[in-house]
Amino acid sequence: MNKFYITTPIYYVNDKPHIGHAYTTVLADVLARWHKLQREEVFFLVGADEHGAKIETAALSAGKSPQEFVDEKAEDFKNAWQKLNISYDNFIRTTDASHQKAVASALETIHKKGLIYQDVYKGLYCKGCEQYKTEDDLIDGLCPEHQIEPELMEEMSYFFQLAKFRDEIKEKIEANEFEIRPEERKNEVLSFIEGGLKDISISRKNVKWGIPLPFDSKYTTYVWIDAFFNYLTGLGWQGKLEGVPNFFPPDIQLMSKDILRVHATIWPALLSALDIPWPKKFFVHGFFTASGQKMSKSLGNVIWPEQMVEKFGVDGARYLIMSSLSYGHDGDISWERLTEKYKADLANGLGNLISRTMTLAQKISFLCHPEHSEGSHKKDSSPLAQNDNKGSEKLRKLYEEIKPKEILEEIWKEVDWANKYIEEKKLWELVKNDEQEAKKVLDELFATISDVAENLRPFMPETAEKILKILEAGEMKEGEILFPRIN
Ligand code: MSP
Repeated sequence: MNKFYITTPIYYVNDKPHIGHAYTTVLADVLARWHKLQREEVFFLVGADEHGAKIETAALSAGKSPQEFVDEKAEDFKNAWQKLNISYDNFIRTTDASHQKAVASALETIHKKGLIYQDVYKGLYCKGCEQYKTEDDLIDGLCPEHQIEPELMEEMSYFFQLAKFRDEIKEKIEANEFEIRPEERKNEVLSFIEGGLKDISISRKNVKWGIPLPFDSKYTTYVWIDAFFNYLTGLGWQGKLEGVPNFFPPDIQLMSKDILRVHATIWPALLSALDIPWPKKFFVHGFFTASGQKMSKSLGNVIWPEQMVEKFGVDGARYLIMSSLSYGHDGDISWERLTEKYKADLANGLGNLISRTMTLAQKISFLCHPEHSEGSHKKDSSPLAQNDNKGSEKLRKLYEEIKPKEILEEIWKEVDWANKYIEEKKLWELVKNDEQEAKKVLDELFATISDVAENLRPFMPETAEKILKILEAGEMKEGEILFPRIN
């Protein structure tokens, strides 16, 4: 059986999950479900990044101990993922004792190999990014991401010999052995690496909330180093050199462009330092803005996934999230546009198609559903179903390219076709005066709808099930509505 390992970044728990986190996580879920439907053995990892200065400060201002704080916050993430029907296999937390032990043990090994040395570090540090910045990174002296002035830090520090791995990283990325998609992201990383790669500080003296360095407990481990190991410890890895855990390396690692550089450099270098194989592929999606602005709590424009679930239902929210970003691009969202799209595609599109078809089918007691009439379906005229193989090949290709929005658009061609077909054939008249023709049309509609439902499984698992049940029963339950009308 083919194995498939997919990861999302582990999110910082200083805040609640928003639509950006939800996008990456729902996308991972869609891919995990699709690969399962291809009969692959899937492991889908999510988690929480719980150490570092940012969390320490957030806990302090919430008047809580860091542990108390992260325990609560990690629950928020778990709850959000449950509401979005995320089928993850493990939720790794960097405060898990087993993770901490494994990180210490891995660092011990890397230290013994002579890849870690001590030196003075002086630099500008942005707490928001949990990263050192160069003057070039700043705009008007501020971190462009967080609009805060980085602090000058000077301290004795332990360094990891990242520079040593520069050529290996460059070569593997160029050869697509370590694949970075889309192409422009790959090029961005390559030109960043061309500019040189410096050794990085992996220790923090003033941050208490972290994993103590195994070879010098006066320091804690830099939060990013701690975090990368989650992709191993999430599979039960204990930091020992003997044996790489089952499922490793990842087939796909998802993230947005904000954290690509660190992922494409430090992470593979750590793996090489431990003689562990590299991830096969990164997929880097765009960034959300809300009504044209960066989403931020202070602007009050954050779109929370839980609010979306409340308004649009779980599958409605999943659908809207997945249709919000075009391949390789950033995307702007607003409640108005989400609501419009819900109405057009779900309430009036798919929802209406099912309720109309079933109402008309009942008029002539049409009970022919796909399983009962194998081979009798003529759905030659519907776009995706024109030729089953061609249709699924197209989707398969889009899945390989990781184009969720485009997959949904393909599926919606069928939905739109079917709605138009009802109009064109004036099915409401046929059921009254040409039962035979009506049955033929309904046969095509049932086949198309069943196709749509099958194809929707990874995106809208509950809705897909419901639709298939409706087809099987030949009717909708009294008062059953797939996508309620909203304002
Ligand atoms: N903790 C680190 C990741 C460590 S992984 C070893 C981190 N956390 S984060 O909470 O800031 O999450 C960043 C990721 O969340 C992005 O790469 C992306 O997957 C998702 N998003 C957060 N905000 C986003 C948008 N506004 N738009 C799209 N996705 C973004 O970085």
